[in-house]
Amino acid sequence: MSGAAKPKEPRANAFGESYVTDYIHSLENRVRELEREKRSLESRSLHIDRELRSLRAEFERMRAPPLVAATLLDTLADGRAVVRSSTGPHFVVNVPQLIKPEQLKPGVRVALNQRNLSIMEILPSKKDPLVLGMEIEEAPEVSYADVGGLAEQIQEIRESVELPLLKPELFKKVGIEPPKGVLLYGAPGTGKTLLARAVAHETRATFIRVIGSELVQKYIGEGARMVREMFELAREKTPSIVFIDELDAIAARRLDASTSGDREVHRTLVQLLAEVDGFDPRGDIKILAATNRPDILDPALLRPRRFDRLIHFPLPNEEARAIIFNIHMKGMNVTKNVDAKELAKRTDRATGADIKAICTEAGMFAIREGRGRVERADFDLAIAKVLPPAKIPKTPKPERMFG
Ligand SMILES: Nc1ncnc2c1ncn2[C@@H]1O[C@H](COP(=O)(O)OP(=O)(O)O)[C@@H](O)[C@H]1O
Ligand SMILES: [Mg+2]
Repeated sequence: MSGAAKPKEPRANAFGESYVTDYIHSLENRVRELEREKRSLESRSLHIDRELRSLRAEFERMRAPPLVAATLLDTLADGRAVVRSSTGPHFVVNVPQLIKPEQLKPGVRVALNQRNLSIMEILPSKKDPLVLGMEIEEAPEVSYADVGGLAEQIQEIRESVELPLLKPELFKKVGIEPPKGVLLYGAPGTGKTLLARAVAHETRATFIRVIGSELVQKYIGEGARMVREMFELAREKTPSIVFIDELDAIAARRLDASTSGDREVHRTLVQLLAEVDGFDPRGDIKILAATNRPDILDPALLRPRRFDRLIHFPLPNEEARAIIFNIHMKGMNVTKNVDAKELAKRTDRATGADIKAICTEAGMFAIREGRGRVERADFDLAIAKVLPPAKIPKTPKPERMFG
């Protein structure tokens, strides 16, 4: 190149010698200029590469598990977001620019960085029952044999839940519709949840359980969405049983829906009614609910084609108590003189849950004394401990509603 700057034999032409020399000069300058520019770009590119690598590494480090799963509740005007973390508390978090605002719909699941809690990514699944706090079990490990003294209730639930799920054609043939919703009611601890789980087991159905009080207390503002998603999940995982425990918490008769909390509960109930109204009783989804307080339920729930089959769970009588004792003592190492019938005689007004607690307590007394076998005396202590004095004589406790 530099050779061109001093041509050896400049020759004249039509434009004159100096033109050629000037032209070569200008070319030379331009080449140098471009070469400089290229070097500068190369060094800048190296620099950018280095910065990029370091930022990428930092980004990966921030994204590295464990991330905290959370549900987006709301976005704020300043660009931040409100999320509920999977562990419960709500946080106001930063939203980095790499998250597009249109991705931030309330209800999406996000992953938060553990250190500064900013949103690192939007998680794909639109619902995750565990994150949402629903309890989903595929065929729970409880069978009818684990439910004591409720032969009639088992029979009824088999006809109204199991049969329509397993043999829908029977109902078609006879030309009747199975009940749509089944409501189990009775005092706490009488086996309602237990039987609901057993029917799911026996039908091999997916069992989706949600607790009414949690819908309105734990997932404030989201009760209605939870109900909708629960039914969506049930439709995806058929055959399925949707079980709403503590129904009264969302379905108490409305006295005065004046506070925002009441309105929220009401929205949840309205969504539930819409879901119940929207599905076919002959389909492969069954809806079950349980309550200790049927007296306070909103009558709208009990209309035909909603919860139209009611099953009462009474306190177990003596015979039933003996059966329940036997169920819970089955795996226990007890001495010969421990007799379920005799225990049943002495535990008037005990519920199934009380009986289970008595068995566990008796076992604890034995362990405390370093014995491997549970004796009669352990049961005596356990009964005294579990049953409040008022329950041992025959006077009914005032707060007990049933039995
Ligand atoms: N009829 C019963 N037979 C056997 N165990 C029972 C019975 N009723 C209650 N239990 C025991 O008590 C526990 C709690 O009962 P649960 O079904 O939750 O009562 P509810 O839902 O009516 O309040 C059950 O898991 C079970 O161990
Ligand atoms: Mg229960």
